[in-house]
Order: sequence, then C-alpha cells, then structure tokens
Amino acid sequence: MSVIRIQGMRSLQGEMEIQGSKNAVLPVMAAALLHEGRIVIKNIPRIQDVFCMIEILEALGCGCRLEGHELAIDTRGLCKSQVPDEAGGRMRSSIMLLGPLLGRLHQAETCYPGGCVIGRRPIDLHLAALQQMGAEICSEGETIQAFAGNLQGAKLSLPFPSVGATENALMAAVAARGITCIRGAAREPEIEVLCRFCESMGARIEGIGSSFLTVYGGRKLHDCEFTVPGDRIVAGTYLGALAATGGELCLRGVPATHMAGTWEALRQTGCVCEFGPDRICARMDGRPQPVNLSTGPYPEFPTDLQSVMLAVASVAEGYSQIQENIFEERFATAEELKKIGAHITIEGGSAYVMGSYPLAGGELWASDLRGGAALVVAGLASENESRIHGYSYISRGYEDICGDLTALGARIALEED
Ligand code: UD1
Repeated sequence: MSVIRIQGMRSLQGEMEIQGSKNAVLPVMAAALLHEGRIVIKNIPRIQDVFCMIEILEALGCGCRLEGHELAIDTRGLCKSQVPDEAGGRMRSSIMLLGPLLGRLHQAETCYPGGCVIGRRPIDLHLAALQQMGAEICSEGETIQAFAGNLQGAKLSLPFPSVGATENALMAAVAARGITCIRGAAREPEIEVLCRFCESMGARIEGIGSSFLTVYGGRKLHDCEFTVPGDRIVAGTYLGALAATGGELCLRGVPATHMAGTWEALRQTGCVCEFGPDRICARMDGRPQPVNLSTGPYPEFPTDLQSVMLAVASVAEGYSQIQENIFEERFATAEELKKIGAHITIEGGSAYVMGSYPLAGGELWASDLRGGAALVVAGLASENESRIHGYSYISRGYEDICGDLTALGARIALEED
C-alpha cells in the first residue's frame, strides 16, 4: 500500500505544466466511440480513471495504444455493447458510454456506475434524456440495458445542469437523426471541450459554452487528433496549497477562462493571481484570510475544490463558512482534518471553520479523490510529519501529486507502507 509522507511548513515556489484534465478526457474517450475509425487524443493524464476507461474500450473491441501522453483509439473493432461490470463499477464515467454505444450499436448495457462516495449520485437525468431521444431503458437490479433503433433528435430540458447528463445527451445527439436542443445544459468547461472534440470529428453544434446547445445530428464523422486542456481542478488544488503555505507559482496549460469561481475563492484568501490565456501566476504572503464560499454549477465555485478550500480555511486567520450544494457527503474530509487540529463544525450543508495555524499533522485516511488532495494540502500546512493513506483514491485523478509538489519545493514523497 502506498502512503504519502509530508513534512510541512515549506512555502511553494516554481513553475509547472499542469496535467491534462480528467473530467474532460473521460467523456472525450467515450465520444470516440461515435466514430468508426481512428482518433488520437493528446495530453492524456496518466491516471487510474483513464487506465480504467482504456480497459473498458478494449473490452468493447476497440484497439487502444497509450504512448506517453498520447492515446490512439481504433474504434473500428467495436463489437460489444456490454460494459464489463468490474471496470464499469470502478468509476462514475462508465455511464458516459451509454449515449455513444446506443448511437453506434443501437444497444448498451452497463452496471450502475461507481466512483467516489461523495453523496447520492443518481442517473435519472441521463436516462430521461436518452429515453426522450427514443431509447428504451430497462433497469433490473444493478444493470441498465438500453436499446434504440435509431436515436431521434429531441427537445430536451434539463431540470438541473448535470454535467454527466449534458455530456450523455450531447453524445447521443451527435449520433441521432435530426436536431436536438438541450435547454438547461451544464456550462462546465469540460462540456465545451467535449463539443470541440465532437466538432473536430465533424459534428455540428451551436451554442457552445452556453446553457442552450443545438446539435445537428447524424452527420458523417471522420478521424481526428485532439488535445485535452490542462486540469482546472489540479491547478486549483496547487493554488489552494499555495494559499495554505505561501510562496509564488506559475502554472501552464490551463486556460484562465476555465477557472471561474476559483478566482473569487483564491482572492478571498489573499492570494494574488495574474493570468494570461494559457498561464496562471499567483503569489501568497502570510496566512490565508477566511473565506465565505458556496459551491454550485459552473461558473460558481466548483464542488471539486470544496475539500481543498476546507483545508485552506482550517489554517486561515479567522472564521470561514463553506456551503456544499452539490454532493452532500463531501464533508467527510472534515473529520480527518479535525484529527490534526482543525476546528470545523458541520451543520446541514455548511462547514463553519475557525482557522488555526499550523495544523498538527498526523496519520490521515483519504476516502475520496478530492478529499485526499485536501489532506495533502493540510499536511503541507502542518508542523509535524503527516502520512496520508488511501493513495488509490488520489491516483484516480492526480498523475503525480508528490512529484509535482516536490518540484514546487514541498517535502513530500510517495512510499510503500
Ligand atoms: C461531474 C464531475 C465531478 C463534479 C461534478 C459537478 C466528471 C467525471 N465528474 O460529475 O467531478 O464534481 O460533475 O461539477 O466529470 N444529478 C441527479 N440526477 C442525474 C445526474 C445528476 O440528480 O441524473 C445530481 C447529482 O446528484 C448532483 C448534481 O446533480 O447533486 C450534480 O451532478 P453532475 O453534474 O451530474 O455530476 P457528475 O457528472 O456526476
């Protein structure tokens, strides 16, 4: 079992390229199935969820070749419509295969998707969108089966801007006959990336970046090469670490426009950020100031950075309040932070945090991906050594969190227990 060992109290300094985005690359890999041919995806993050998606695509009959950070997918051999249970149950994004499989093979079968336990994660909006496009869905026990002769364009209206449901509907719409309108679409940058990828295969989509997407389905698709942008959540994690420890960082590869919501959170801590189109530079002097944050759909503050900001608030100079509106169980991380001296009270959907600096450090157990990253941030702002267990959660989304932070001056290493 791997353990992250951290000696904290060092400020961060340096410049680095941020890995490709996990939440962008997984739907792009699923969307590759819409086309029968060869797709090359560049800037692939070498993370466990990507390896799991490769395993699934291969089990479905595709050829995948990952060399460095480039993945070539040959979808000509796609012949199976059943997502293997074990791999599908390991991550949330397996549900993303329903739309593309229905489009290509007219049928799909998958188990209820896995992923981090961060609260209720229903898929009713995904299924309703596919049904409106003509799919017949049978769900028995843990298995979902879907059939469709030909998907038909439809007028969809999402009651909540679910990222996954928007992506599934979008992919089905690219394959469907006719025009699909998606009203109430999520506006997360990963949706825009997926639209751009579909466009590079030959799809026609209007309204990209807005909450109203129009997809002209059924067009002939072609081979393409596509580069995934840097991961805004990984960038936000390292900027959170900077806010907790002080120092100066320059991060490359993440468009500043992908960081809406995160800027305001960092500004509240006292972190000074400057950015060019593909470069974010930030400086932090002294202890963070307290924050008042509330998570919400993009462009609001992202739920994926809530735990990291909870760790920052734990060492802030005063009283912070953080409200979670998307995934109710994300506050599980608070219990770990309390073990090393954080003063956090959870009431309903809010965390009330009285900052104290430094934290004590100690043995900590991650129980989800972003919560694990938050424990790393807490370890960096602790006076004694910390050991973070549960690396398997963290490696689902961070390619080399220890290598990255070491390059930025932290004393952190991955060790075998
Ligand atoms: C994606 C991201 C995840 C991020 C989340 C919100 C990926 C792989 N994961 O997850 O990191 O935290 O967006 O930005 O991209 N909901 C329903 N019914 C549905 C679908 C969702 O009620 O059918 C609810 C969920 O319970 C949750 C909210 O909608 O409360 C947001 O979920 P959603 O936007 O769908 O998140 P994911 O796509 O699962």
